[in-house]
Amino acid sequence: MKYLGIFIALIVCSQLLFAQKNFVVDVNKVGAEVQPEMYGIFFEDINFAADGGIYAELVKNRSFEFDEPLMGWKEPNSNRHSLNVNSGRAIPITKSEDIANRHFLRINVNDGSGYSIINEGFRGMGIKEGENYDLSFMASVETGINQVNFELITTDGSTISKGSVAVNGNSWQTYETTLTASATCPKAKLKITFADKGTIDLDMVSLFPEDTWLGRKKGMRKDLVQLLADLNPGFVRFPGGCIVEGRTLKKRYQWKTTVGPIENRQNLINRWNTEFSYRSASDYFQSFGLGFFEYFQLSEDIGAEPLPILNCGMACQYNTGELVPMDEIDPYVQDALDLIEFANGPVDSEWGKLRTEMGHPKPFNLKFIGIGNEQWGKDYFDRYVVFVKAIKEKYPEMKIVSGSGPSPNGEYFDYGWDQLKKLNAEIVDEHYYKPPEWFKANATRYDSYDRNGPKVFAGEYAAHNKAEAHAMTKNTWDCALSEAAFMTGLERNADVVYMTSYAPLFAHVDAWQWAPDLIWFDNLSAVRTANYYVQQLYAKNAGTNVLPITSEGASITGQNNLYASAVIDENTSEVIVKIANTGDEAQEINIDLKGLKKSVKKEEVKITCLHTDQSEAVNTLEAPNAVVPNQSSVTADKNGFVIEAQGNAFYVCRLKVK
Ligand code: AHR
Repeated sequence: MKYLGIFIALIVCSQLLFAQKNFVVDVNKVGAEVQPEMYGIFFEDINFAADGGIYAELVKNRSFEFDEPLMGWKEPNSNRHSLNVNSGRAIPITKSEDIANRHFLRINVNDGSGYSIINEGFRGMGIKEGENYDLSFMASVETGINQVNFELITTDGSTISKGSVAVNGNSWQTYETTLTASATCPKAKLKITFADKGTIDLDMVSLFPEDTWLGRKKGMRKDLVQLLADLNPGFVRFPGGCIVEGRTLKKRYQWKTTVGPIENRQNLINRWNTEFSYRSASDYFQSFGLGFFEYFQLSEDIGAEPLPILNCGMACQYNTGELVPMDEIDPYVQDALDLIEFANGPVDSEWGKLRTEMGHPKPFNLKFIGIGNEQWGKDYFDRYVVFVKAIKEKYPEMKIVSGSGPSPNGEYFDYGWDQLKKLNAEIVDEHYYKPPEWFKANATRYDSYDRNGPKVFAGEYAAHNKAEAHAMTKNTWDCALSEAAFMTGLERNADVVYMTSYAPLFAHVDAWQWAPDLIWFDNLSAVRTANYYVQQLYAKNAGTNVLPITSEGASITGQNNLYASAVIDENTSEVIVKIANTGDEAQEINIDLKGLKKSVKKEEVKITCLHTDQSEAVNTLEAPNAVVPNQSSVTADKNGFVIEAQGNAFYVCRLKVK
């Protein structure tokens, strides 16, 4: 008798545990529009994302503008500390402190023994067998030198490419040649040898792969841009991040110094050079080869709206917090107005003319502009209102993005939102770097936001599973899955949440400062993280309008570890259901499509699933497939379909309904 009781209890329990869950999607209740910009990307030059990353230049410190002008360069057969005769010597010379490109390198060659200088690249240079490399440099010959010899050398010193360029004349000229590589090397170097005795001045020593994104000369790394394009982003937020703010106002990001001929773009120390003592990078500078023109062009190339963020007269409040006095703010505001003219102005306007000279007479059609990054407090709003007034007076159609501080709650956040509501702000940028549990608990975050207030831009977010070292955690599957669960709440609230982007975007495996990041790369290849696939699945399955999805009359926001959202794509007549199962147990879910005009019987339901039972699983360059999307399908019955949702999995299900 006793055993029978236990047996019955076990059956009841297992039925409760494995009971089919019923979800209802109301196909008739077509709700809020999902903004076409909803799922975007945030690009900041952190972790060597620009120089050493997407910007394909292989020579580090090409124009000798780093604080130490010879950083990145070596003279293997010269002793700089000896007065004895050397085979030669490289001496940085300052042309003038008042110009952007202040320095050049004077090479004195004392004999014909083969004096050389070597550039180490950005943690080496990624060179591929059979590929061509565009080499260029500026030179002025003072005496004697007739030829400059170039080699690509591997880590063991063997030569994998060679070329020579004849030089003459003591005025600055640009020289070019092509190097072809006979072998692949992830950490090659560029060696420059001078056979003749004499003196030559060098500047802008540059090496790019010929095979760049869209084949543009001196362009971007094709594989990395392709990964961005594959995300189908609705917008690109750039160039930061804290990089916009600078440690001091003098070191802030100024877009005007990043446009025009590249040799005239003024280098700047990257604020991530020194930010974290445990991950400092003394060789991290910004060449601005990837400048505002290139950011606009990149956005256009990948079909995304550009969203530039501008300094609002405040340096990073985590650093100096330096403020521009209110009576000196005009140049900052003028920068914002001029940027809009640079992007959209006619070809005969001052800044539209520069855009045209740079090769883009057509406007970039800029619609959004961000004032400040993560600023907080009264000082921000004093400055913010001045920008808004000036921009709206001249460009009333421009949509302005404002900040709400560095955290998703607390004093700064509450004060910020309070001010922004009073000011009728349009789009408010929120940032959250929190543990996975926070993301799951916050799937309901936007359910209670004011429907008549400002719209939300979730501009920087990522789950960090080690609270104590917030910028040093890994792209584990439990983080990515918690983001997927949280994002059902972004989608369900698309009437309030207009834009979203994971942060940061890129990290070089040998040169990063902040983790986790969406894409990891080395000098030759890149890997998509599980978080990347989550972002991609949302962006590629954004739909056009929200549909209600409920279980027992309530939104699915973590009951039984399940999270769900649904949209319809009115263009393709497809219903798209997203489900995250964050528990360990598999669950059978019956999805009932209520209000169908026509039965969906026998319709194929295409299912994409991200899953692993290893919560700590991470995609790496060596093992990129720990968590990757898998495709399958089920057949719908009359009014819906059933899905077996494994534990620790995220599903996207699509089916035609008309
Ligand atoms: O994404 C890295 C940094 O995090 C950004 O620069 C900043 O906005 C945030 O604090």
